[in-house]
Amino acid sequence: SLTYAPSFGIPALRGKWQESIFEKNSSLSGKKISLPVVTCGITHGISLFADIWVDPDDVVILPDMMWGNYNLIFSVRKGAKISQYSIFTENGTFNLKAFEDKIKEEAGKHKKLVVMLNFPHNPSGYTVTENEGNGIVEILENQAKAGINILAVTDDSYFGLFYEKKSIKESLFARLCGKNSRLLAVKLDGCTKENFVWGLRVGFITYGCQTEGDPSPVYEALEKKTAGCVRGNISNASHLSQSIVLKSMLSEEYSGEKEEKFIILKQRAERVRNVLSDSKYKDAWEVHPFNSGYFMCIRLKTVNAESLRVHLLEKYGVGLISIDEKNLRVAFSCVEESDIKELFDIILQGVEDLSV
Ligand SMILES: Cc1ncc(COP(=O)(O)O)c(C=O)c1O
Repeated sequence: SLTYAPSFGIPALRGKWQESIFEKNSSLSGKKISLPVVTCGITHGISLFADIWVDPDDVVILPDMMWGNYNLIFSVRKGAKISQYSIFTENGTFNLKAFEDKIKEEAGKHKKLVVMLNFPHNPSGYTVTENEGNGIVEILENQAKAGINILAVTDDSYFGLFYEKKSIKESLFARLCGKNSRLLAVKLDGCTKENFVWGLRVGFITYGCQTEGDPSPVYEALEKKTAGCVRGNISNASHLSQSIVLKSMLSEEYSGEKEEKFIILKQRAERVRNVLSDSKYKDAWEVHPFNSGYFMCIRLKTVNAESLRVHLLEKYGVGLISIDEKNLRVAFSCVEESDIKELFDIILQGVEDLSV
């Protein structure tokens, strides 16, 4: 018989995932974190996080480019206010100043801030550098020291897909953990993209905090609260999916198979960079910085992004996502390396069609 899983998740999987978090995040060395609680994919993790921690009229700080589902979860479901900063500077770096200004502005109005951090980022495919990452941590730590309660949540959906030297190679969760008693770090991650099993729906919520003395009782309480929320929501995540993930993680082929997939995606990202270095595209768009994940974005100079999206779909059968009036997201992760040049040539053709 296929029994229920515990609402917390299968103990062996929780242990294995926790072990893997330590392996993948060197700054966690010597720190204590909770055992992960299993969710039904990362969307469910975000939604559970919101159920437990977000009240109506709370503020959730996010960049101006963001995954659309945050809006459904935080604004529509929870009635919280999303407050946005502009993610990039003119020079194509993370806009630490805009982030700090936004945090200070909202800290002036709220005693509690929810700060969502998503690197590799959807939609831009950007991951912060070491300096930018440390800057984010310092800004949040300073506010916590000043008496603001901070919930710093990392959405690590695309974790591990880092293609360039300059970006940070661990989750900001690892650096936020243990910084201040007013700063609770929450890690939302899962197998969807990390393990390339989109339909299995296995995600995790893990906590990192600073306490006086042993944090274990605090973590136990947080795990129980979270599992209670799973219980009252979906009861428990699929036993079958959790068993498959656990078995795969214990298999000798696990890391080799992950590496193979990583290399395919990295080659696609490199091909995109290479193709876009051609000056023929420069009058049509600018390329937003990208160095990781599944996506990249172009900022159109002459045509409306939604009009171009519809035109490309109708005339050429090419499906992209428009982020706003100017920005189009390209999911290079799902395009064969050999088709990438053609893809951008079609986008350019689409721009030219709309310009006549
Ligand atoms: C930033 C971000 N968070 C969460 C998710 C959802 O992940 P899952 O499919 O595990 O619910 C996605 C996937 O599209 C995403 O882009």
